[in-house]
Amino acid sequence: MIPLRVSVAALFLFVCPFVLFAQNCPPPVDEPSDCSFPVPTAAPVVFAGDTGPMRVRKSAFELTTAEVTRLRLAFAKLRQLAKDDPTDPRGWMLQANVHCWYCGGGNDQLAGEEIHDGFWFFPWHRTYLYTLEKILGQLVGDPTFALPYWDWDTPGRAMLPPVYATPNDATNPLFDVERGATATSLMPTSLAAYGPGFATVMAAPTTDLFMGQPTGIESNPGSLEGGPHGAVHIWTGQPSLLCQDGVADMGILATAAQDPIFFAHHANIDRLWDVWLNTPATPPHTNPIEPASGPVWRPHTWTYYDQNKVWYSIAVSDTINHATSLHYTYQAPNTTSATPTYMMVMASPTATKVTSAPHTATISATPVAAVPPPAKPTVLHIDGVIVPPGAAAAVRVFINLPTASPTTDAADPHYVGIFTIVPHTSAARGHTKRRNIAMALSAANLQTIAGGSMNVTLVPVAAEGAPRSLNLTYEKIYITR
Ligand code: C2O
Repeated sequence: MIPLRVSVAALFLFVCPFVLFAQNCPPPVDEPSDCSFPVPTAAPVVFAGDTGPMRVRKSAFELTTAEVTRLRLAFAKLRQLAKDDPTDPRGWMLQANVHCWYCGGGNDQLAGEEIHDGFWFFPWHRTYLYTLEKILGQLVGDPTFALPYWDWDTPGRAMLPPVYATPNDATNPLFDVERGATATSLMPTSLAAYGPGFATVMAAPTTDLFMGQPTGIESNPGSLEGGPHGAVHIWTGQPSLLCQDGVADMGILATAAQDPIFFAHHANIDRLWDVWLNTPATPPHTNPIEPASGPVWRPHTWTYYDQNKVWYSIAVSDTINHATSLHYTYQAPNTTSATPTYMMVMASPTATKVTSAPHTATISATPVAAVPPPAKPTVLHIDGVIVPPGAAAAVRVFINLPTASPTTDAADPHYVGIFTIVPHTSAARGHTKRRNIAMALSAANLQTIAGGSMNVTLVPVAAEGAPRSLNLTYEKIYITR
């Protein structure tokens, strides 16, 4: 069956390509009206550590036939549970709505704590996946059940894992009708989900740069959340990347967890958190350091219904050593990664304000000193980024290369990174937030800076390498060290 959006897109492409850029975005038909869930009056049971056997999460590309059967059965049972008893909090749509609750809420404007765009991102999704994994294991009667991960960063795997996309119809419990990508869609390198662009993401040298910072009025996502994580969301919803608005399910956070691929995508994000922490670096990569005024990150808790419908609370501290406390590990795919070095220091906070893209901004920068590694990273900041409500964005960032294009190789020494914005809700519900983007400059980036000034070029990307309409504003570009 051809989804409606494809045939409509083809029609517009034939009649008027310019209309396509601006308007042809399928509306999110399944944006929930209400994603709250019943909260018991009794206090939650405090999580005391997993008591089941160790579970091993494998790449969705490496599952055995038996594991594929088990995975499909688990999601089939989850969907059936929601039909048999729509009030069962473990069922499919209520599970998907837990994610909606934590990322903008439903059409009724009711929402919980925001756990995206900052340092709650990794631990919250870990607790969410853990809870669902235990439910799925219960449903198939197998306590060793483990979610697979979608390692789009492994060469050759920047596509839907076949188990999710073949057959690409409702006979497959892992299929989602509101998904633009199919078995033959390939992710462009410009999205930085693999290759040199991805290596740049994983080379973020500090906790703030990789994991993000506390989120309040503004959001401060880390390099993985704010880069390929968002890119894969947007791409899965609309692999053409031609709609400015986010496209359900995966391309809008309120609907993203209605696609089973969400959980494989986030298992990969969860695995990459480990990869970053375990990458040798000086200074070593760590989880957030608590402020002197007292711990903030580790004691924070969230509550869920567990596999037995017991309302329980789990803390960030419970997520830190998942093998010990949550009883799961990752079986790694074969990849290698490089560690960055830093050779030079720049400093220049300079304000710039522009409202178009592709766009080059020139900022003055004074070389301060040349220092060998280990050094504090030199960081490029793009503060106050805003896109219109509902808009999705993927923007590549280059230093000293005004001719940069959507297809410029990420191995180019001028390539800094990518930032992506996944809208929380559809345009109609109007949710915007200022974002502050921070990216470490690599040694290769720094070597492209010759004199006392430099420029930064922002390039919105589309899959075909065509310029893409994007209305994005930012307030300030500057460098710190
Ligand atoms: Cu909670 Cu990938 O988003």
